[in-house]
Formats: sequence, structure tokens, C-alpha cells
Amino acid sequence: MNVIVVNGYEEMSDRAFAIMKDIVVKNPAAVLGLATGSTPIGLYRRMVADHAAAGTSYRAVRTVNLDEYAGLAPDHEQSYAYFMRTNLFDGIDILPENTHIENGIAEDAAAECARYNELLETLRQDIQVLGIGSNGHIAFNEPGTPFDMTTHVVDLTESTIRDNARLFAREEDVPRRAFTMGPKNIMNAARILILANGANKARAVYGLVRGEVTPSLPASILQHHPDCTLICDRAAAALLSDEKGVS
Ligand code: PGA
Repeated sequence: MNVIVVNGYEEMSDRAFAIMKDIVVKNPAAVLGLATGSTPIGLYRRMVADHAAAGTSYRAVRTVNLDEYAGLAPDHEQSYAYFMRTNLFDGIDILPENTHIENGIAEDAAAECARYNELLETLRQDIQVLGIGSNGHIAFNEPGTPFDMTTHVVDLTESTIRDNARLFAREEDVPRRAFTMGPKNIMNAARILILANGANKARAVYGLVRGEVTPSLPASILQHHPDCTLICDRAAAALLSDEKGVS
């Protein structure tokens, strides 16, 4: 794993943006695997600003998102479909039909998972952006998720519900279930870019980089990915005390 330690959120976002822009410039029809949450917002802001200033085009880019709350329609303000439109897609020239995410209100959840898995077979991510949960989850793959799982519906853990409650008016409003790509769909990406900032991510980052590879810490599977870059700030890197191999 290539580990890049930076000073803070803005520098993390700058470095992530440089990687994403390089991919889109070299391959204007790239498939970008995208993530929600507070971590990638700085990256998306830079993509929007650069599109306006430098004209980097996303007209042929395709995107696949990691996850979506079960029960929320795409126009619900807390849905991840809405998050992606407001934080990124509305600010660049991507075609809406080229953006993909699980349908949170699919009536047949199993059929929706199968549809998304088939889509991911045809749209292999050139890069997959990830955040990491304080419990080491990636997407909504909570501790204990078998590494060979593909897209599935999960019951969110209490810790994830608490982490996400800040975005809802009341904790009771946080959906209890979600659709998520499985670890296997994530590992299928040609390249992984995982971002982490803040002291509350330090334990998870330690497990990601130096811990045992175990479903108890889902992100640890990334140690087996041939092309994975972690960009994290000093607070998130605090437990990686041995700086060998860390740039
Ligand atoms: P965050 O979430 O970016 O809001 O910290 C990360 C995650 O849970 O994957």
C-alpha cells in the first residue's frame, strides 16, 4: 500500500484531486467509483472548480457509487443519490444517465443487488474512491462482512448509525438498512484511493495499514490490493508510529 501522510484535510483533498484529474485527462471515458460522506467533499469541490476554470470534461465519464440507504428515494435530501448530485454531478458536465447508484426504493432487493453486480461487471472501476468508518468499514461493509461478498443489503451497526446521525434531524431518522457494494466489488477496481482524516479514524487507519487482514476490520482487505493508495492526515496517521514506507 502506498501511504501518503499530509498535514490536513485541504492537502488530502488536493492530492486526491491530482490523482483523479490525471485519470480523467488520460482516459476521458474512465469509470470512477465514488463515495459519499464528509471525507470526499473537498475532492468533489476541486473537481467542480477545475471543471469551471480549466474545462476538464466528464461528458464520457461513467460513475458507480458504493452505497445507498434502503428506503430513501433518489430525490430524498439524505439519499446518497442526492448527495452526489449536489456535491458533484450538478457542477460538472457528466451525463446523468452515466451515473449509477443502487436504487434505495427497489421493491425486490435481491433483484436490485443482482442488477448492480451485473452493472459492475461491465463498468469495472478504473479507480475506486473510499472513505473509512471509525470501525474500519468501507462502504457499508461493517465488521464481520465476508470478503467475498458482492452487492447486498446490510443492517447498519449502532456505531455507523451514530456516526451518520449528525446529518439527520434526529437519530431515529437515520435509515437502519442500506444497499452496498461488497468487498469483492471494491477489490475488483483497477486502483483504490482511500482517504482518511481526523483522530477518530486513527485506529481504523492503523488496522487498514498494519493490522491483521480480517473481516473484523473490513478495510484491511485492501492490503491485498495490488494498487492501493491511502492519503491521510497526521491525526489519522497518528498510530502508524513506524514511519518506514510512509511518505
Ligand atoms: P465520513 O464517512 O467520510 O463521513 O467520515 C466515512 C465512511 O463511513 O466511510
